[in-house]
Amino acid sequence: MSTSDPVAGLGLPDVELLSKLANQFFSALPSGVPGTNGLPSGLSHLSAAQAHQPKVPGIPADGSVPTGSPDFGFSPGLVPSATSALPSAAAATVGTPLPETPAISPSIPRSLPVTPAPTVPPHLTGDVPLGASAHGVGQPSAQGVSAAAVPASPSLNNPLASSHGQSYSLPVANPTDFGLPTDAELKALLSPRSPGAALSAPPSSGGPAYYFLEHAGFKQPAGLNVPGLSPEPMVAQPSLGLSNGFDVNLVRRDFPIFKERVNGRPLIWLDNAATTQKPQSVIDRVSYFYEHENSNIHRAAHELAARATDAYEGARETTRQFLNARSVNEIVFVRGTTEAINLVAKSWGRANIKQSDEIIVSHLEHHANIVPWQQLCAFTGAKLRVIPVDDDGQILLDEYAKLLNPRTKLVSFTQVSNALGTVTPAKQMVAMAHSAGARVLVDGAQSVSHMRSDVIELDCDWFVFSGHKIFGPTGIGALYGKEALLNETPPWQGGGNMIKDVTFEHTEYHDAPGRFEAGTGNIADAVGLGAALEYVMRLGIDAIGAYEHELLVYATRLLKDVPGLRLIGTAKDKASVMSFTLQGYKTEEVGAALNKEGIAVRSGHHCAQPILRRFGLEATVRPSLAFYNTTGEVDTLVNTLHRLSGAHRRV
Ligand code: ALA
Repeated sequence: MSTSDPVAGLGLPDVELLSKLANQFFSALPSGVPGTNGLPSGLSHLSAAQAHQPKVPGIPADGSVPTGSPDFGFSPGLVPSATSALPSAAAATVGTPLPETPAISPSIPRSLPVTPAPTVPPHLTGDVPLGASAHGVGQPSAQGVSAAAVPASPSLNNPLASSHGQSYSLPVANPTDFGLPTDAELKALLSPRSPGAALSAPPSSGGPAYYFLEHAGFKQPAGLNVPGLSPEPMVAQPSLGLSNGFDVNLVRRDFPIFKERVNGRPLIWLDNAATTQKPQSVIDRVSYFYEHENSNIHRAAHELAARATDAYEGARETTRQFLNARSVNEIVFVRGTTEAINLVAKSWGRANIKQSDEIIVSHLEHHANIVPWQQLCAFTGAKLRVIPVDDDGQILLDEYAKLLNPRTKLVSFTQVSNALGTVTPAKQMVAMAHSAGARVLVDGAQSVSHMRSDVIELDCDWFVFSGHKIFGPTGIGALYGKEALLNETPPWQGGGNMIKDVTFEHTEYHDAPGRFEAGTGNIADAVGLGAALEYVMRLGIDAIGAYEHELLVYATRLLKDVPGLRLIGTAKDKASVMSFTLQGYKTEEVGAALNKEGIAVRSGHHCAQPILRRFGLEATVRPSLAFYNTTGEVDTLVNTLHRLSGAHRRV
C-alpha cells in the first residue's frame, strides 16, 4: 500500500491488498460443482450468483490496482468510473461540448461480492443514513461496503426460489484450505475504520465542476439566444436540506447523467414528472442481471433460472416492503401505471361493472386514469362522473360527497396531479368511497417518488405506479391489490405462466400474482425496479419529501416574482410540479429557450387535457422537481425566465 494513497486518510481499507485478496479468493474457489456455491465456511450464505463470479469484475486478473483514484463504491460519482464516463463520447458525437470530467480512472468495482443486501429496509428499522449514497456511504459495518450496490442475488435456499421445484444444499469449505483469509479477516479488511470519514469525505476534484460553482455564486455562462439579453450573475443560495441531514450534493453523485451537458451547459433535469433519472445502483443492477443471472423464470430447473427467479421474486418482496403491502401475492408486475389501470378496468371492471353503475374520477386525472374507465363505460353502459376542483386545483370534497351514492361501484383518483402538483386527500377520499360501498384505485404514478406510499394506511383496494417515475427502468411498474380481491378477479390475459392446468376443455388459473402475469415479463427491469426502491428506502422517503417541500416552496416564491408568469395549480398541499404560462410566449417557446440553457422541462398538455381546460388552457410549461434538484438549478430556471420576461416587455 502506498503511503500517499489518497484514501488512507479516510480510514478506508487498503484497496490494493483488498482487491488482491478478493481475486485470489475467488480464483481459488472450486468451480464447476453443480448445485454448490463452493464457498468457505462462514461465507456460504453468499448466493450462487455472487459465488460463481470467476473474478471480481473490473479488477485485473493479477489483482493489481490500476493507477488513479480508486472508487470504493461508497459514492460512484466521487471518482467517475470508466463506464460512467462513456456517455461523454456519445455527447461528443452529436456535437455538444464534452463534459468537464477528469481523466477516466479505472475503478475498483462497486460490487465486491461480500455481503448480501440487507434484509430489513432502513425505513422499517428507523436506521436511515440520510443523504448517503446508495453505495453504502456511512454504513459502518462490513455490510455497508457495498450492500446497496451489490446486486445480491438471493440465496438459492431462498424459499421464493422453490417454485421451480428444486432444493439445494451447499457444501462448505474452509478458506485456510486455499491459503486464504478467513471470513472474519475479510470482514475486518472491508470495514471502514472510520465510517464518519466516508460520510464527510470531501468531494473529489473529479466531480462535475458545477457542484462547486453552485456554492460559489458562479457567473452564468453565455446567455439565451434572445436579442437584447445578457447573462446575469447567479445569486448564491444556501443549500437546502442540510439541516435535516439530506445532502443533495452528495446524493447527486449517485446519478451519472448529471455529468452530461446540454448546449454547453450542465444538464438541469426538471422533467421529473415525465420520467426520473437513474442512480448508478439501478444501472449496475440491470447490467448485473444480464451478465450473471439472465434466464427465464419459474420454468427451468437450472442454475440461471434459479438466479433469475430469485432476483425477480426478490424485487417483488422489495416492492411489497416499499408499499407496506401484507403479502407478495398482492404485488403484480406490469408495464407501468397505464397497464395497471387497464388491467383493473378490463378484468375486475368487466366482471363487476353493470349498466346502472357509476364510476367516479377526479378532474385532475391523467388520461391513463380517464380513458380506460370511459372505455369500460362504453362497454357496460355505466356512467362516468367527475369530482370538480377549485381554482387552486384542489379537490372539492363536498362535491365528491354529493357524487357518492349506492350506484357508485368504483372511485379512481390520483394521489398527486401530474399537471398541477396537487396532493389529494387520498386517505379521506378512500374512506368516503368505502362508506358508499365502492372500490377504490389510487394512482400513485406521481406520488411514489415524493411521499410515503402505505397501502395499509390508505386502505385502497388497488394502488398503481410506474418504475420509471421512481428512478427505476421504463417498461416496468406494479399493481398492488388486496389479495382476496385479486384472487376473485378473472385474469385479463391468458397464456403461459399464469395457469395451474390446461386442457382443451378447461384452464385452471394460478392465484395472484401469477394469474395476472401471463407470458414472459420484463424480468430484468423488475429487478432494476427493486434496486430503485431499495435506493429510495435507503435515502428515506420522509427525508426526500421534506427536502423537496423546501425546494418547492423556494421555487414557487421566486417564480411568483417573474413578471407575466401565471402559476397554474396553487393548492396548499403540492408536490414537485410547477406548471405555468409566461405572457408573450407560447409554452413551446419557453421550453425551447430553457433547453438552450440546458434545462429540461415538459411543455404541452401533459396527457391531462381536462384539467388544463378547467383553467382555460391547452398547454403549460411544467418544471417538476425531484430530490436531486438544487436551489442553484432553480435559480438558473428563474433567471432565464426573468430574462425572457424582460425581453418580451422591451419589444
Ligand atoms: N405522465 C407523464 C407526464 O406527466 C408522461 O409527463
